[in-house]
Amino acid sequence: MFVSFEGIDGSGKTTQAELLVKRLADEGRDVLALREPGGTELGERIRELLLDGPAMSPWAEASLFAAARAELVAEVIRPAIDRGAVVVCDRYVDSSLAYQGVARGLGVERVLELNLAATGGLLPDRTFVLLLAPKDARRTTNDRIEREDAEFVRRVDDGYRRLVTMFPERCVAIDASRAPDAIAEEVRRELA
Ligand code: TYD
Repeated sequence: MFVSFEGIDGSGKTTQAELLVKRLADEGRDVLALREPGGTELGERIRELLLDGPAMSPWAEASLFAAARAELVAEVIRPAIDRGAVVVCDRYVDSSLAYQGVARGLGVERVLELNLAATGGLLPDRTFVLLLAPKDARRTTNDRIEREDAEFVRRVDDGYRRLVTMFPERCVAIDASRAPDAIAEEVRRELA
């Protein structure tokens, strides 16, 4: 099984990914926790370029995220799924669709096409999209992309809301304004 968590920065998705990983591990499952971009040697180096590097054009940015993802799928995710593990990813393709496709204006369809090529068509079984009004987000880090202005975050949020309606079978909209325990319980019920 392959599960991803998505949302704007400060939506609480990382907390939820960690809570799910802990619960599955406590149940004795073979579970693998991953974050994007990163998770491989190449991916970590691409991560530095993306989050700490120079300004870049939108397609360069989308292509670097896709390159890191291609490596992660080939080296880590597919082998884990093949051995029967549960893979929990903090961000995956939908981050590129919301940030690069919508907020950077490249188009959801074209960014999806790039990512389907990069991942061999691998999409999660379930994607939890944590929806939270940008004004309520608890922003923590301050990387190159997170330094974008409030209007950019509003577009990312808008992107995630569109993705939930575009992919209703895979994406589950989660009201992220509630307590972490209540959200974790909803995630548990959904996966049961
Ligand atoms: P991440 O390290 O997950 O930050 P956070 O702690 O906020 O979750 O991601 C770093 C930034 O990269 C974040 O602002 C979202 C952005 N991003 C994209 O723009 N496209 C992508 O495909 C991914 C995976 C992340």
